Amino acid sequence: MNELIFRAFAPEDKAQVQAFFADMGERSASFFNVDHGNERRTMEFFENGKRDHRFFGLFEDGRLLAYAFIWDVDRTVVWFGIAVRDGVQGRGLGGRLTQLVLEECRRAGHAAVLLRTHPDNVRARKLYEAQGFEQLGTHPSGEILYMRRFSL
Ligand SMILES: CC(C)(COP(=O)(O)OP(=O)(O)OC[C@H]1O[C@@H](n2cnc3c(N)ncnc32)[C@H](O)[C@@H]1OP(=O)(O)O)[C@@H](O)C(=O)NCCC(=O)NCCS
Repeated sequence: MNELIFRAFAPEDKAQVQAFFADMGERSASFFNVDHGNERRTMEFFENGKRDHRFFGLFEDGRLLAYAFIWDVDRTVVWFGIAVRDGVQGRGLGGRLTQLVLEECRRAGHAAVLLRTHPDNVRARKLYEAQGFEQLGTHPSGEILYMRRFSL
């Protein structure tokens, strides 16, 4: 694998972010893009800006391999979401991007990061637990609620 670049999305990424969602297989979309919700919010960012979100990618030779957002960026605790391109899952990219985004959140002064995930999403749960997320309980949606706290 060539050098990976971590950076926030820029306006010129719009077409390939749209393609990233279009290429997402059924299983990944069932975990990450139910009713096209994450896709819609991301495209709103490109169209109108979205001040309460930040979006990041890991790029190899300019190609988006892994995507992440944080939401509620004006609050002490932010929400996090992540997806890795189907063909390159299970190679550590999700772990790498999670680490980098957590570092951004810590630097920005957030106290913790929240997320929710489907109980059957075994790979995601392994990743989150390896990255120090603790299970808080069950979200009203039926998904597992995880929190990663930062030490002061
Ligand atoms: C879930 C998802 C983001 C994980 O990313 P990934 O690049 O596939 O996963 P990684 O290879 O980084 O990490 C997964 C594995 O590495 C391990 N890992 C990651 N970081 C680690 C760390 N710091 N230390 C030890 N192990 C680690 C995990 O335990 C896990 O083990 P496995 O190989 O047995 O599956 C990705 O598979 C994906 O996009 N899935 C579809 C969309 C989705 O489900 N998004 C999340 C919705 S909540």
